[in-house]
Amino acid sequence: MSAQKPARRVTVPELRARKGGEPIVSLTAYDVATARIADPHCDMLLVGDSIGMVLYGMDSTLAVTLEMMAAHGGAVVRGSSHALVAIDMPFGTYEQSPEQAFESAAWLMAQTGAQAVKLEGGVAMAQTINFLIRRGIPVIGHVGLTPQAVNVMGGFKVQGKERAGWPAIEADAEAVSDAGAFSIVVEGVAEPLARRITQQVGVPTIGIGASAGCDGQILVTEDMLGLNPRVPKFVRRFGELEQAMDAAFAEYARTVKERSFPAEEETYPASDD
Ligand code: KIV
Repeated sequence: MSAQKPARRVTVPELRARKGGEPIVSLTAYDVATARIADPHCDMLLVGDSIGMVLYGMDSTLAVTLEMMAAHGGAVVRGSSHALVAIDMPFGTYEQSPEQAFESAAWLMAQTGAQAVKLEGGVAMAQTINFLIRRGIPVIGHVGLTPQAVNVMGGFKVQGKERAGWPAIEADAEAVSDAGAFSIVVEGVAEPLARRITQQVGVPTIGIGASAGCDGQILVTEDMLGLNPRVPKFVRRFGELEQAMDAAFAEYARTVKERSFPAEEETYPASDD
């Protein structure tokens, strides 16, 4: 009789080795149920700081805290067994110094069991990324549209529309890759630039609003499921869960109002045996 193989998570070296190979499938997750359902389909689940906007209704990601990330990160790790789980470092918890970044990242990983952290920024963060990696913390970079810099960018704007803006973003991606990040999220950049970056760096690029030219893709799960009424233009909806939930809630309300639930004794066993 053959025993079923225990589920094994995708590892950091395995994900890194996907450069130029089979595209990396990735989604965000913030809770056990979503993690459980998405896990078999994904190589990576990201506990993104987009949680602030998507789940908590904030205007930006800036007020997300380490404690929020730890609580939701733990849930995603517990809900999954296959995908690599990476967790975002919130604004203000890593930029000050490599030491600050190490303290925050080590705490997040210990609290959650996540295998990696992601942080935003290119050239300016390269030293910090290298510091973390040399101390056992795998890092994913994030360049292009970096939502934590919303106030510097003057909004959530596509980057690299003009060719003049390309060298700075290319330099960011190269710096992150050279610093040892095992992959790079490339967000909101024009397609030709995303393709150039993907050719230039030695680690997989994971695109969001950056064309199919990247080594993989990530989407915010609630956006692609139709649970978020305001989504960026590039997002394709792969489901219409808002409609499905609305119909279920309406049906529930109807049965309550009509008192059409089954009799209590039919649904609630008197004892366990
Ligand atoms: O916070 C997030 O969800 C992200 C993805 C959009 C890449 O960083």
